[in-house]
Amino acid sequence: MLDFSSLDQAWASLLDQFARRFDATETSHGRETARFIRANASARPAWKLHAHDVVLSATLATLERDPLAEALERLSPFLAWRTRGVFTDSDHTNRAYVEFMGPDGMLHHDEIRLGIYWHDRHTFYPRHRHEAVELYHIVSGHAQWQHVNDEWVSRPPNSFVLHQANEDHATKTDNQPLLALWSWLGDISFASYSMDEAPVGLGLGFRDFESNLSR
Ligand SMILES: [Fe+2]
Repeated sequence: MLDFSSLDQAWASLLDQFARRFDATETSHGRETARFIRANASARPAWKLHAHDVVLSATLATLERDPLAEALERLSPFLAWRTRGVFTDSDHTNRAYVEFMGPDGMLHHDEIRLGIYWHDRHTFYPRHRHEAVELYHIVSGHAQWQHVNDEWVSRPPNSFVLHQANEDHATKTDNQPLLALWSWLGDISFASYSMDEAPVGLGLGFRDFESNLSR
């Protein structure tokens, strides 16, 4: 029989960590995200198993004794991962996210989207933009981030990245996977979302899963 109490506990710990880390950014976006989380502190998702092929072990192994990693490990089979495009020539999932709270979230919310993002090593997420203002907190992995047309910057764990509405941004990894918490505020619909194709010359075959093309 499923032990729902340990799932509930892991969820509370996960969201508590989320709120603390977003507060620690000392941005108004981070504080507002934390307020939304704490206002929903007693809510719990309807637990069900989700089949997925997202393998977090390499990422979580670097986070020993981290309460966030422990909660993710416990919740892993119950997280509603949404897999995204294949930006390498491999067939396995190499980008995926979970919406913990939001219009499509494990907990329903109309004013915010927030969750976790995983991006495998040697993976490229082309330049994209959206109306929502977006804050990332990096949990693990030194990925390269590009803001508008600026130089690519390597951002370490525990740093954050803020994208204003409609600002172009892109992310790529070298030999470490990336794990990050994210939140969207403002216009959180996907209506304004658009993404460029991967630039020619990167040596990466750009494809997407059939199942994502209808979105
Ligand atoms: Fe984004």
